[in-house]
Amino acid sequence: PRKIIIDTDPGQDDAVAILLALASPELEVMGLTAVAGNVPLDLTQRNARIICQIAGRGDLPVHAGCDRPLARHLVTAEHVHGKTGLDGIRLFEPDAPLAPGHAVDFIIQTLMREAPGTVTLVPIGPLTNIASAFQKAPEVISRVQEIVLMGGAYFEVGNITPAAEFNIYVDPEAAKIVFSSGVPLTVLPLDVTHQALTSRDWIEAMRASGPVGQAIAGWTDFFERYDREKYGSEGAPLHDPCAIAFLLRPELFNGRDVNVEIETQGEFTQGMTVADWWRVSGREPNAHFIRDLDRPGFFALLTERITALDRR
Ligand code: BDR
Ligand code: CA
Repeated sequence: PRKIIIDTDPGQDDAVAILLALASPELEVMGLTAVAGNVPLDLTQRNARIICQIAGRGDLPVHAGCDRPLARHLVTAEHVHGKTGLDGIRLFEPDAPLAPGHAVDFIIQTLMREAPGTVTLVPIGPLTNIASAFQKAPEVISRVQEIVLMGGAYFEVGNITPAAEFNIYVDPEAAKIVFSSGVPLTVLPLDVTHQALTSRDWIEAMRASGPVGQAIAGWTDFFERYDREKYGSEGAPLHDPCAIAFLLRPELFNGRDVNVEIETQGEFTQGMTVADWWRVSGREPNAHFIRDLDRPGFFALLTERITALDRR
């Protein structure tokens, strides 16, 4: 199986992403690293442990990481995810304690221990932990196999400001470090995640699956409310599961190799991912930027994996 570290700020859609990964034998999740984002760190690290317990994986190490962006105040998204970040189900105190050691050190130690080019990083929150690891131990950068992240937007522009997507907006300085690191990078922006909209039928299939599916149904019921009221969209966008699905089934996705620069200065555009879709800048591509999704294939994959997890 392919070794991955999921860096996360759960978040209902983060939860579905983590469950999809834990349900997939092709992936070996080495640990979860929590970061401040959708809600503050004390909640995201606890949420990550709750999700592991729901998956029957209380043994998986969850490390707490950075509690604020590199150079800014933390912006959170309770308006989308609720006060806890995981509103929609009855939450509980997880049995497993936090793993000892800072998430940034766990990332560094794992990359130094494993053979070069064998560990993939999957950030589905702000990029603070990953950038901090690259700053603290630049020797790890060349050892990363690949980064597959959820963040950014081009044609779909922004969801936290008119120009910026949440994960990049929260810590643009960190994003800049990651996007200029030279690590092979695949980006799942809003352009694709806004196609990963849940349907009523799918949510009901989840509810019928078992305890894991029921948790997912509770979360998506809650998560859907925001997009329905705000954008009139049918269904909730499963942003973060796109990153895991890409690792499992890249053929469900389509994109281009383009240059992406992170705006950190602009008056109206901080956190914007300036993607050179038409290759007018002459700058070298640094990212595989995804635009299209096979939606039925994506949801079939989720259903297959989650129902299998509920049966075991
Ligand atoms: C991203 O921001 C968070 O609200 C979601 O968990 C996702 O990672 C979407 O913009
Ligand atoms: Ca997230």
